[in-house]
Amino acid sequence: MNKPRWYTFKGNTNASYKHLIELRYQVLRLPWNQPLSSAMDDTDADAIHAVAYIDSIMVACGRLHICDNLTGQIRYMAVSPKFQKTGLGAGLILQLEAEALKLKLKFLHLNARDTAVTFYEQFGYKNQGYIFTLWNCIQHYKMLK
Ligand SMILES: CC(C)(COP(=O)(O)OP(=O)(O)OC[C@H]1O[C@@H](n2cnc3c(N)ncnc32)[C@H](O)[C@@H]1OP(=O)(O)O)[C@@H](O)C(=O)NCCC(=O)NCCS
Repeated sequence: MNKPRWYTFKGNTNASYKHLIELRYQVLRLPWNQPLSSAMDDTDADAIHAVAYIDSIMVACGRLHICDNLTGQIRYMAVSPKFQKTGLGAGLILQLEAEALKLKLKFLHLNARDTAVTFYEQFGYKNQGYIFTLWNCIQHYKMLK
């Protein structure tokens, strides 16, 4: 595997934003027959996005939403299936936490799919308990660091 090229950007006008929506859609929406429109929201405009490219293909993306001057939320974490379990998810967490530190945020929270809870625990996120079930099938857990 060639080395991933990482970068972060703010907002939804960057050329990479289109790639990011497609990756979110492929990983987080299409397998559950959800529409492309559900892979984006208005708060993308103010959020910080971390992405990785390999050979000009976007293979990982994640978002830091600033909730207030102490708190951020990580959302829309997606790694291309072919590249999962190769360290890209860990890279996303590192990039997003570095951005949170620059902003002097003290708390990060996220709504983790049941299948990803153990992944986030490895980075120090603590499971606060069940919050909701998406599309009648994916249980989510509130996690906090
Ligand atoms: C969850 C996800 C972002 C993790 O990214 P990844 O690139 O596969 O993870 P990494 O390779 O960086 O893994 C880092 C560590 O977490 C472990 N890990 C990865 N995915 C895991 C999972 N779903 N459950 C438990 N552990 C996991 C890896 O084995 C690795 O551990 P190690 O360092 O001891 O080997 C990615 O698999 C993904 O996009 N999944 C589908 C979409 C999704 O569920 N997104 C999260 C929604 S809340």
